[in-house]
Amino acid sequence: MSDRKLSGEVFYPSKEVLDRTQVQCESIYQSAEKDSLSFWENEANKLHWFRKWDKVLDDSKKPFFKWFINGKTNIAYNCLDVHCETYRRNKVALVWEGENGDFRSLSYFALRRETCRFANVLRSLGVKKGDRVTIYMGRVPEIVTAMLACARIGAIHSVVYGGFSVESLHERLEDSQSKVLIVADGAYQRGKIVELKKIADEALQRAATVESVLVIKRTGHEINMEFGRDFWYHDLMSSPIAGNSCDIEIMDSEDPLYLLYTSGTTGKPKAIMHTHGGYMVGTYSTTKYVFDLSDEDRFWCAADPGWVTGHSYIVYGPLLNGATCFMYEGAPNFPNPGRWWSMIEKYGINILYAAPTAIRGFMRYGDAWVKRYNLSSLRLLGSVGEPINPEAWRWYHKVVGGERCPIMDTWWQTETGVVMISPLPCTPLKPGSGTKPFPGIQVDILDEKGMRTDDDEEGYLVIKNPWPSMLRTIWNDPERYIQQYWSRFPGMYLTGDSARRDVDGYYWIIGRVDDVIKVSGYRLGTAEIESALVSHQAVAEAAAIGLPHSVKGHAIHCYVLLKAGFEKSDKLIEELRQHVGHEVGPIAKPESIEIVDSLPKTRSGKIMRRVLKAKALGIDPGNLSTLEE
Ligand code: PRX
Repeated sequence: MSDRKLSGEVFYPSKEVLDRTQVQCESIYQSAEKDSLSFWENEANKLHWFRKWDKVLDDSKKPFFKWFINGKTNIAYNCLDVHCETYRRNKVALVWEGENGDFRSLSYFALRRETCRFANVLRSLGVKKGDRVTIYMGRVPEIVTAMLACARIGAIHSVVYGGFSVESLHERLEDSQSKVLIVADGAYQRGKIVELKKIADEALQRAATVESVLVIKRTGHEINMEFGRDFWYHDLMSSPIAGNSCDIEIMDSEDPLYLLYTSGTTGKPKAIMHTHGGYMVGTYSTTKYVFDLSDEDRFWCAADPGWVTGHSYIVYGPLLNGATCFMYEGAPNFPNPGRWWSMIEKYGINILYAAPTAIRGFMRYGDAWVKRYNLSSLRLLGSVGEPINPEAWRWYHKVVGGERCPIMDTWWQTETGVVMISPLPCTPLKPGSGTKPFPGIQVDILDEKGMRTDDDEEGYLVIKNPWPSMLRTIWNDPERYIQQYWSRFPGMYLTGDSARRDVDGYYWIIGRVDDVIKVSGYRLGTAEIESALVSHQAVAEAAAIGLPHSVKGHAIHCYVLLKAGFEKSDKLIEELRQHVGHEVGPIAKPESIEIVDSLPKTRSGKIMRRVLKAKALGIDPGNLSTLEE
């Protein structure tokens, strides 16, 4: 660490934090700088392999990089079985609190047993290595065991966030050609029941590949069970097919572990593919170093397992490290804005990893809700999903972290699999900056021509070298993988974000430069919202844009052109909002919909969203030479 004074507002690590982490931080920065491949290899060596790799990286078919060539492993084996051979066998792996007050705690031994039984049930439904299994449920322990059970038998899981709706689920079932759907009857959300099975039934009507549906009873309300297709999980789990042990599938490093759909610039969501070997090394090491995770910690990543943050930092990263993870069901402000803080006190959480939108939401309720609880167990905080504005950072630091907990503002993406830009606990912090790349990662900021930008100048954020947990491809669409990520600046991974670097070499993420909107940290494509709107009988054309919002970060605003014969009315606007909610999911419901007579388009017919955005914000729309009229 250099002793040079840094510019701007800086929070230096306390002596206590430095005593704990400095040696480790410095040594990993140094070793990764010396030789990043040896750094990753050294990390990989800390995990279990049935057969070690012949070579760390194969870059002969760029951008289709391969890692840990011919290595044989299984990520679920490393998450569970490895710990069951040690003193961690009886350690708590997962603590869970339901919205209705239910509570469960599973040791590593118990989590392995439940996973094995689940895996046997899946095998009994004909699931084999390489088959896709879609998982659609709320935040209940079975979502964790479902993922691990798939990984154990080599099936590829595709988790669909429980806040998505019919069309989103249908698209993902179809594209992944899933053989089995694991669904809960419902999920509790703010005292109400989200009828997941009912949504799934509608999506299944057009999903030809699904042979069986495994239904987990959570809410217990009346649901439709289709004879021969739908099976109750508890029936199969208590039958003889679900033995307590289950042979592990030995996986090649490069065998797919999961698909996770995410929104892109155009068209339908794309399935990002991650693998057993490289993803395991990435999640293991980033969890350990970014969060300074140790054996005594109780780690809480407050995301949903339906998103990449939940995959990497609720399930895989913490379990690979043998940590105790916490997960809850419900919403941050239900039954009151004290829920999170009460759980931190009650379960003695040491590390909290949350999204800025949640922090901003809590700020609105004032400090009293937080101060009512004893949060002295907290040692470290994290932020993820969107830029954290400095006011929210300071509030998080002062009120939640009691000014003693460093905040790891982690920048990364579904595609990167793990944290890419983030402080380590020993890094001096600047509110709103993700600070520096993780050891072994090289990033840069380029201008339109691909030249490195000057300090403080905004440009395209790119990643210059491959990393083990990088996406391997877009499922079913390798061409799009090349086009989307590797074509704009040859040889470099295009993130889709703009950023700047300050004089101290600290990175500041500004936001997306494409047609992706981050709403409350959730990633949505304008194309998805627009196609949901035009699927309504009254709509001829639609455009969606994101505008700044004080809590959500961005909110969706839409412009709609009606078909002849339809009249503008408040009732129709509300119907359109509900329609988007039904098709995509409640998170995608537009904040406002304006009915217009025309949309600004280029001469080739593309909607110019930036013109709509500039108009809504009252700013200069810039170059209009391509505008049709
Ligand atoms: O725009 C960046 C933003 O979230 C995008 C990735 O979204 P997703 O794939 O859903 O993954 C979210 C969780 C990793 C990025 O392209 N983003 C994520 N983290 C940050 C961020 N923007 C600023 N600061 C962050 N810490």
